[in-house]
Amino acid sequence: MSNYPDVRLRRLRRTPSLRRMFDAPMPGPGKFIWPVFVVEGKRQRQKIAAMPGQYRCSVDTLLKELRPVAKSGIGGILIFGLVENSQKDGAGSAAHDDRGAVQQAVRAVHREYPDLVIFTDVCLCAYTTHGHCGPLTADGDVDNDSANEMLAKTAVSHAAAGADGVAPSAMMDGQVRAIRSALSSDGFHQTLLMSYSTKFASSMYGPFREAEQSAPQKGDRRGYQASYGNARLALRESALDEAEGADILMVKPSLFYLDIIARLRESTDLPLAVYNVSGEYSMLIAAADRGWGVLRDMVRESSMALVRAGTDLLISYW
Ligand code: PBG
Ligand code: ZN
Repeated sequence: MSNYPDVRLRRLRRTPSLRRMFDAPMPGPGKFIWPVFVVEGKRQRQKIAAMPGQYRCSVDTLLKELRPVAKSGIGGILIFGLVENSQKDGAGSAAHDDRGAVQQAVRAVHREYPDLVIFTDVCLCAYTTHGHCGPLTADGDVDNDSANEMLAKTAVSHAAAGADGVAPSAMMDGQVRAIRSALSSDGFHQTLLMSYSTKFASSMYGPFREAEQSAPQKGDRRGYQASYGNARLALRESALDEAEGADILMVKPSLFYLDIIARLRESTDLPLAVYNVSGEYSMLIAAADRGWGVLRDMVRESSMALVRAGTDLLISYW
């Protein structure tokens, strides 16, 4: 009885109603976090050529863009900031400016859309003249421990503006511990810390670096972001961030790392997020533009792959 012709697996997927009954549901909007880019100024809505459909907005425009998005019941947003080149320095100090675009966006969005969960990206690469994620030592390496000080100040300034959660993405050793302890000593006991805990040195960040104008001027990020050839070391990154006080872990990019997502899901009880990054977004748009696939179907299939692998949250431009 355990085989064909008695067993016919097609019975369980014969009609749309049966498939609806037995398939896992598509994740609803509440599970999605939309990354947004904010610039200084007013009435700005700058097209990002490498990411069709995404814009750099000033705070006033962002509030308008968010109206339908908030109405859709989306879970939250993840805010990235940009500054003029003249405000960049070697250490990225503009990142913790209380009047910076991110800090202003947090206050305004919090006021206008109290139900949206607001996360902020905490990194320095969009604020340093050299484009690395922390200040450099004399020999050109990223100075881990001074980066942590700047990241902690930046996280505190985002929390002070009213962010629900801060999301450090610099891949410095000890950044989660440094941020958690700075938040605690300043009384921000409720601020969520969503760590980009396993973030790979990936070739899929290109469109984002165009959006953020944050590409390193010299060298690359392989000395601090995880190496895709070393899965064990990449998983230790997340384990350590859990021990340092992260509330939410993250794998980034997403679709090339389903094994890592599944393994991390097995090894932690923390909520798990994945970042479906810019290159993954633009890749599907490019394929659809050439008539090589139907965009909506590709988006649904790839989002379901991430859920199947075990993610709770999807950070996504879709
Ligand atoms: C910067 C940062 C990057 C992304 C998020 N934060 C790029 C990088 O590390 O160079 C990538 C996001 C995306 O590609 O959508 N720390
Ligand atoms: Zn960075």
